[in-house]
Amino acid sequence: MFVCLCHGITDKQIADAARKEGIGNMRELRKQLGVGSQCGKCVQLAQQVIDNTIVDE
Ligand code: FES
Repeated sequence: MFVCLCHGITDKQIADAARKEGIGNMRELRKQLGVGSQCGKCVQLAQQVIDNTIVDE
């Protein structure tokens, strides 16, 4: 599912970034994938995906 429509980023891409590249917060995710850098609507959901991914490990 798409989380960030502005940049076409899916929840899977965010989870992968959290797992493989150790992305742990929105600031890092924004820098890496651009998520949340345009309209900002995706920020809350993207944060949830990061949190859930980290909790799952
Ligand atoms: Fe992510 Fe707009 S949907 S910045």
